Amino acid sequence: MSDSYSLLILPGDGIGREVMAEVRKVIDWLGANRGLTFRVEEGLVGGASYDAHGTPLTDEVMARAQAVDAVLLGAVGGPAYDDLDFSVKPERGLLRLRKEMDLFANLRPAQCFDALADFSSLKREVVAGLDILIVRELTSGVYFGEPRGIHADDNNPDNEGGRVGVNTQRYTSGEIRRVARAAFELAKKRGNRVCSMEKANVMESGILWREEVQWVHDNEYPEVELSHMYADNGAMQLVRRPQQFDVIVTDNLFGDILSDAAAMLTGSLGMLPSASLGAPMANGRPKALYEPVHGSAPDIAGQGKANPIACILSFAMCLRYSFDRAAEADAIEAAVERVLADGVRTADLMGPDGGTAVTTGQMGDRIVAALAAA
Ligand code: NAI
Ligand code: MG
Repeated sequence: MSDSYSLLILPGDGIGREVMAEVRKVIDWLGANRGLTFRVEEGLVGGASYDAHGTPLTDEVMARAQAVDAVLLGAVGGPAYDDLDFSVKPERGLLRLRKEMDLFANLRPAQCFDALADFSSLKREVVAGLDILIVRELTSGVYFGEPRGIHADDNNPDNEGGRVGVNTQRYTSGEIRRVARAAFELAKKRGNRVCSMEKANVMESGILWREEVQWVHDNEYPEVELSHMYADNGAMQLVRRPQQFDVIVTDNLFGDILSDAAAMLTGSLGMLPSASLGAPMANGRPKALYEPVHGSAPDIAGQGKANPIACILSFAMCLRYSFDRAAEADAIEAAVERVLADGVRTADLMGPDGGTAVTTGQMGDRIVAALAAA
């Protein structure tokens, strides 16, 4: 196994820059103490890139993103850019990265740290120790299918208002197989179980989804345990007994909804990491972009209040899923767990009884200290 990894860091805007500074501390610690070599480059994205170059992503940064082992992104956007033309809005930079890297598998973990179990809207015993991963297909399905649009419903005098809105759920077998493969590969690095969710009872695209996921399983991953579930039942099971799942794979629309619901089982936006993966590169690693779920949080930017854990856990996902460094990923997650158990809290994690919040920088320092103490 190579222990030299190239990483492009795109801090972006607002708290993106603040939380990324804390990730750098973790990277530096691993480099100095675990013998890993990270070849880290930085670049501009979003408003920061617009300010410097008049575009939210330059061709040069796009090319570097294609060339590295993994990209780590903070967040983009902010009120200073709200009135920009659509074509140069900060979000366009992120969308271009996702599209040109063809990142078709969006990974959203729902992981409950014991010290925060009381933050959940569910009972502690239902969520304590929860660790599931939702894999959402990201580049196809009803958000992209043709035909689409809003039309006059000319030949239908009984239609009050006279209009019709159309979207099309369309999946090719190839699109289903590649996201299924991603899910099985991930399951092999976790609990070795995949649950596929669709609505094969009422949708032909769901029947195809079920058949193709089963095909990939039977032909390529027979050693991974596979089950199928209708997505509406899946929604119920996620709130009833979420611990039954390991990896869930589902389409773009169901995945959008189910991943948001699952994430909220575990507490604050400041805790939620994510990843988007594409096809394997020549070195066997998937194209990959890791980023916290949250945005640039202009309401707290520049005040040292941001929780860096979502971004630090995104880097842990990078170690696990791009670099096959499960030991280091586990160590980071354990350090986060220990710091939270010690009662260290950024402002977003303060309970109703208050207490004193630490700053973004102090949280990063505590996590590095916990890594060093392990
Ligand atoms: P947001 O995620 O930036 O903030 C929502 C709320 O959560 C705010 O009250 C914020 O203070 C809080 N929050 C978010 N992350 C936090 C953290 N790490 N620690 C503590 N508190 C945290 O979403 P919002 O306000 O809707 O959008 C703000 C800007 O971010 C907009 O310009 C939006 O377009 C952009 N955005 C960018 C995203 C990205 O880069 N992937 C995703 C979502 C929004
Ligand atoms: Mg959503």
